[in-house]
Amino acid sequence: MSKLAIIGGSGLSQINGLKITHRQQLETPFGTPSAEFMHGNIHTQDIIFLARHGNPHSIPPHKINYRANIWGLKELGVTDIIAVAAVGGITAAMAPAHIALPDQLIDYSYGREHTFFADNLDTVTHIDFTFPYNQQLRTGLIQAANNANQLISNTGTYGCTQGPRLETIAEIKRMERDGCDLVGMTGMPEAALAQELDINYAAIAVVANWAAGKSIGVISMTEIEHHLKNGMSNVNSLLYSFILNRYQT
Ligand code: HPA
Repeated sequence: MSKLAIIGGSGLSQINGLKITHRQQLETPFGTPSAEFMHGNIHTQDIIFLARHGNPHSIPPHKINYRANIWGLKELGVTDIIAVAAVGGITAAMAPAHIALPDQLIDYSYGREHTFFADNLDTVTHIDFTFPYNQQLRTGLIQAANNANQLISNTGTYGCTQGPRLETIAEIKRMERDGCDLVGMTGMPEAALAQELDINYAAIAVVANWAAGKSIGVISMTEIEHHLKNGMSNVNSLLYSFILNRYQT
């Protein structure tokens, strides 16, 4: 049986229609997760929600204990994760407030605890990571967007930077040459850790701003908050439609 978790990022601290039934604190062999796991339901579908940056929103991207978060979800029996993340838009379609479902990624982050396969191993383990995002979940999200008449991008390459600072113009130019459409700070190692534990993982990226150099002037936090607010209300509708389609019997 499948069990869904949603990891919420900046701007998504709650989900419309999610009735919280209880909260659960968990310790893992890899430390403490970002926040209590919130158990709840949308209609009859049980869902677990985790606030990636903590509750209140206080853990920066490079300090998130990604291993504890993913391990905790696995312990709770989660089979599917939809990860929501704010991003900067690099290529033309990725305008502020737009939603994209990345299908590829490039990891530019460093110094993060990025694998469960580090210590006390019987054998060296390499996971396949050809497809970092689960195609079935992505197809479900694409269908949900179609049903809800939402215009989204069905593909895109996500570049994960270290943060917490935003990028320079030269860094964004390089990422664009590399093939990135979107830039964010939390996509890795989250996606790889989920794959290591055999959890289906897909991401909904919400564009908060044009990436550095893609609009005139500097990037303001006010601008980011404004676009995130609009984008996240669309994410909420998308999630709602996705859950009804996929998990309702
Ligand atoms: N860069 C990296 N991460 C982000 C951005 C950005 O421009 N906007 C939102 N998250």
